[in-house]
Amino acid sequence: MNSAELARHFEQWFGSQPRIFAAPGRVNLLGEHTDYNDGFVMPCAIAMSARVAIAPRRDRRLVMRSDAFPEEFEFNLDDLPARGRGSWSDYVVGVAVMLARLGHPVGGASLLVRGEVPIGAGLSSSAAIEVASALALMSLNGARLPLPEIAKLCQRVENDFIGARVGIMDQFISCLGRAGHALLLDCRSLEYKLVPIPQNLLLVICNTMVKHEHAGGAYNTRRGECEQGVKALAHSYPGIKALRDVSVAELERHAADLPATIYKRCLHVVSENQRVLEAADALRAGDVKRFGELMEQSHRSLRDLYEVSCRELDVMAELAESLPGYCGGRMTGGGFGGCTVNLVEAPDAANFARQIGERYHAAFGIKPDIYICSAADGASAANSTA
Ligand code: GLA
Repeated sequence: MNSAELARHFEQWFGSQPRIFAAPGRVNLLGEHTDYNDGFVMPCAIAMSARVAIAPRRDRRLVMRSDAFPEEFEFNLDDLPARGRGSWSDYVVGVAVMLARLGHPVGGASLLVRGEVPIGAGLSSSAAIEVASALALMSLNGARLPLPEIAKLCQRVENDFIGARVGIMDQFISCLGRAGHALLLDCRSLEYKLVPIPQNLLLVICNTMVKHEHAGGAYNTRRGECEQGVKALAHSYPGIKALRDVSVAELERHAADLPATIYKRCLHVVSENQRVLEAADALRAGDVKRFGELMEQSHRSLRDLYEVSCRELDVMAELAESLPGYCGGRMTGGGFGGCTVNLVEAPDAANFARQIGERYHAAFGIKPDIYICSAADGASAANSTA
């Protein structure tokens, strides 16, 4: 559905003309589970977005609907909940709560949400809704925040309102992605550099159709394990604040001080940080082969050390390797289901998509969704006639 159709639906529900804001999902090329360790990531935005249509109301209510779900939600702005309640509306009302906590007045509004990013596929459908909602709600009171601040606010929605201890990657790339580029982000300083993706490559994203859950325990457990690693390593390296501050050699020197599982988690994170930096150099130098190898190493590390892959993701990654045009691939996002991302030479992309779909179907009896993408721009105000 385009913005003009969304505007029409909005008018049918709420009887007024909305403004529309859009924010994209993302795919992460490299740097998984590094963001909450103050490390490096290299995602790009994709051309699947959440759109939020909004118009002001005279009362102190936030009334919201989604195209995808039947219920209407209504909140009193003077009595907003302190925590999410487990529905899609959390991603919108959480933004209102955080804006209010940060001293930005929020006025009554009607909102209609439309998400194109598949839910639970590891492509950041929730970050997309949060960022689009933040732009929409801020547009009503004239608040202006720099995009990195909007990303931080939306991360706080996840951390403090929803209870998922996610890092900054998804919200940041949804705000600041650039067409044709990956974004190399230092998750500690929030400095970033755009790295062009060679034009002859497309991203083929393969959805295992196994849904993942974030607020669920495993993600937060991994984060806790990294913190345990930092605590133990700080006895030997008192200056460290996060795994970002530890090299592979330093970690290996103290392997015996860590429980085996904690060591594996830490080894993934510190080597993944190195891979991201090396991969950014490789991409800049046009060395796609090296970039692809680093993606494959990342997959193995996530599978064997961080243990966030699953059988379907492993098979999807392996099936890609023998197909024409394949330059590298791996699982992407938090894991436990969701998607793989593959770099594929453009002329081969359609054939690659068809063949991997058939092979995955033959292996699991599940028809995967396959998306052929290139890197897209970050969040924007959409033209409601487009
Ligand atoms: C999810 C989180 C991100 C990041 C990834 C793993 O997408 O939202 O902050 O931690 O998992 O890299």
